[in-house]
Amino acid sequence: MASSSYHEYEISTRMILTAEKIKKVFALDKQNIIALDDVSFQINEGEFFTLIGPSGCGKSTLLRIIGGLEKQTSGTLNFDKVVKIGFVFQHYGLFPFLSVFENIAFGLKMEGIEEKKIRQIVDELIEEVELVGFEDKHPKELSGGMKQRVGIARSLAISPDILLLDEPFSALDEFTAETLRKLLIRLWQKRKFTIILITHLIKEAGELSDRIAVMTAAPGKVETTIEDHLPRPRNPRSKEFYSLEDKLTQLIKPE
Ligand SMILES: Nc1ncnc2c1ncn2[C@@H]1O[C@H](COP(=O)(O)OP(=O)(O)OP(=O)(O)O)[C@@H](O)[C@H]1O
Ligand SMILES: [Mg+2]
Repeated sequence: MASSSYHEYEISTRMILTAEKIKKVFALDKQNIIALDDVSFQINEGEFFTLIGPSGCGKSTLLRIIGGLEKQTSGTLNFDKVVKIGFVFQHYGLFPFLSVFENIAFGLKMEGIEEKKIRQIVDELIEEVELVGFEDKHPKELSGGMKQRVGIARSLAISPDILLLDEPFSALDEFTAETLRKLLIRLWQKRKFTIILITHLIKEAGELSDRIAVMTAAPGKVETTIEDHLPRPRNPRSKEFYSLEDKLTQLIKPE
């Protein structure tokens, strides 16, 4: 493991993902859209990495490429090992005809895990995301916040190495969003996976991340990456937090 010698016990600097010159061109009838233009970055194992940028800069496209849902036009993605990837979507993406329990169990069933083990894993997750008593409900009976709790639990059921989240809280009211941000941090600290989060909210990025990559408007590029070393839990009313917000605001909207 290539760790900085001094912080050897605290900080893993082992790369889990390196993206080099990722380019994505969508060929439409009359024109080509360059969604991503030579995007490069590296992500460390266990890191909370956030991509922030304006609407249309290619954030979702980049996440879909990392998740294998889409293929880049050119450039390379190198994973350190064979990784399992979990996905959390903005609009939950739950199966409407399955119960909370069955939604969370879905990936495990696909992997052919035995019934008893599935029950154990799913029961534990239901406790962690605080949905005890809702196991047999269907998505239409749940609030938005509860649906996203199911979405998060479902993505974690397969014990992913990397969790990809595409604006996971932006369909929720701010109070619910804040509760779920705290839940995500608790799960990440306990389970120690790598997170790649997409957001357009500066405060959300500052509150959650170890490192924030700022993307520019179309065609998307990673312009700057900044480190967020503020102690956790973060205090969004601290002087340091305001100064981080200012820095990000400047980077996203240069005058
Ligand atoms: N399947 C597709 N076919 C054609 N163009 C696409 C496709 N998917 C995305 N694009 C285009 O690529 C660009 C980037 O889109 P993308 O959805 O990745 O942006 P985004 O940063 O996630 O935006 P938002 O913040 O609004 O979610 C846009 O110009 C979009 O129109
Ligand atoms: Mg998007």
